[in-house]
Amino acid sequence: MRTQVAIIGAGPAGLVLGQLLTNAGIESVIVELRSRDYVEARLRAGVLEQGTVELLRDNGIGRRLDQEGLRHDGIYLQWPGTREHLDFRDLCGRSVWIYGQTEVVKDLVAARLGTGQPLYFEVSDTAVHDIETDRPAVTFLDADGHAQRIECDLIAGCDGFHGVSRPAIPQASSRTAQRDYPYGWLGILAQAPPSTDELIYAWHPNGFAMHSMRSPSISRLYLQVGVEERLQDWDDDRIWTELSTRLGHAGWELATGPILDKGITPMRSFVSEPMRYGKLFLAGDAAHIVPPTGAKGLNLAVADAKLLADAIIASRAKRARTPIRTAGSVRAEPATLAGRGQNLLDSYAETALRRVWRCTHFSWWMTSMLHIEGSDPFARELQLAQLRYLSSSRAAAQSLAENYTGLPYGW
Ligand code: APR
Ligand code: PHB
Repeated sequence: MRTQVAIIGAGPAGLVLGQLLTNAGIESVIVELRSRDYVEARLRAGVLEQGTVELLRDNGIGRRLDQEGLRHDGIYLQWPGTREHLDFRDLCGRSVWIYGQTEVVKDLVAARLGTGQPLYFEVSDTAVHDIETDRPAVTFLDADGHAQRIECDLIAGCDGFHGVSRPAIPQASSRTAQRDYPYGWLGILAQAPPSTDELIYAWHPNGFAMHSMRSPSISRLYLQVGVEERLQDWDDDRIWTELSTRLGHAGWELATGPILDKGITPMRSFVSEPMRYGKLFLAGDAAHIVPPTGAKGLNLAVADAKLLADAIIASRAKRARTPIRTAGSVRAEPATLAGRGQNLLDSYAETALRRVWRCTHFSWWMTSMLHIEGSDPFARELQLAQLRYLSSSRAAAQSLAENYTGLPYGW
């Protein structure tokens, strides 16, 4: 088959890219390793930056988000004896929305299927070909085991950290930067009304804890655990006791309830460069991973998709322009317009990476400030000094607020 853009992966990056392209009249084919049920059930993060919400709304995917999403105008930062509220609207005039990535993916899949543009689930043996030429292609086996080939103008590698796109870039042309943290998050989803109106990020000598939520009746909570910890050593009682201790605050009580899901996730920062090689463009987790503390993973994937879509749309607009015929000659397009589309595609990797590194720093900074590593009193006092600074300096709090609620796409 032939299309303009072949998209590998139906996570947030691939699905948002597909939607933005469709809305601009550009054809794409999406291929996804997993089943529809699987991608719609995968439990992931839940905080949407204001820019992510606006982008989804502007592209016709905001209806359920507007009905069911919870607008949060700030967060609580906590350490023993203190629970400080940071008011994002006051600090930077922006908000975030609580709406699970699973819900975002459901809305995006439904929108995609509604457009009639192809989306193949349960594909296997996905491979990219000829990415250094003008005739790149993607091959795969469809769900029935039939070999398929997509000829395209360019390939968007949106297939997450374990995908096939990033490894297709020759090692000699790529470099990675990585930090593995010596701890992970034990996360639970609980049938319990949230005990807080906004998210609580808590520093505690036993380790970091966080109280998030998914709806007025479902809470999402996290505990810092060592990388070597095993889930079977954490029964429900132990989890609730530890959450109550680390999130404890005078006059406040944590509501408990049946645990619907639990899991341990390791934490890592990872950036792979370049995000473009020939006709292959990487977006989202395929190119970078952040630890979840700054709630940036999903939002970064959406931001990459937006930057890549803008670049593709601009380059198409340029090619679609019919040359203006004058008597006996063809007048060239104005130089600035002619160059713009290709320039945006050429600069996609650089523009995206600049923002990626900003978010990588923010996520690392939030993580380092809130997690306990070793027993060094010097390190702990520095963390507490930083938390007190955030609660006493408007400038410091503003910096956190503008990063948390999301920097502009072209940052
Ligand atoms: N062929 C086709 N699809 C693939 C392949 C393959 N070889 N390998 C992986 N995929 C699919 C995965 O099954 C997944 O659905 O690519 C998709 C990638 O989606 P995500 O991992 O969600 O990545 P991304 O869209 O970049 O979104 C990043 O997701 O992992 C979270 O915390 C992360 O919130 C962040 C967001
Ligand atoms: C979540 O709700 O899953 C969540 C919220 C904030 C984070 C990370 C995860 O920083």
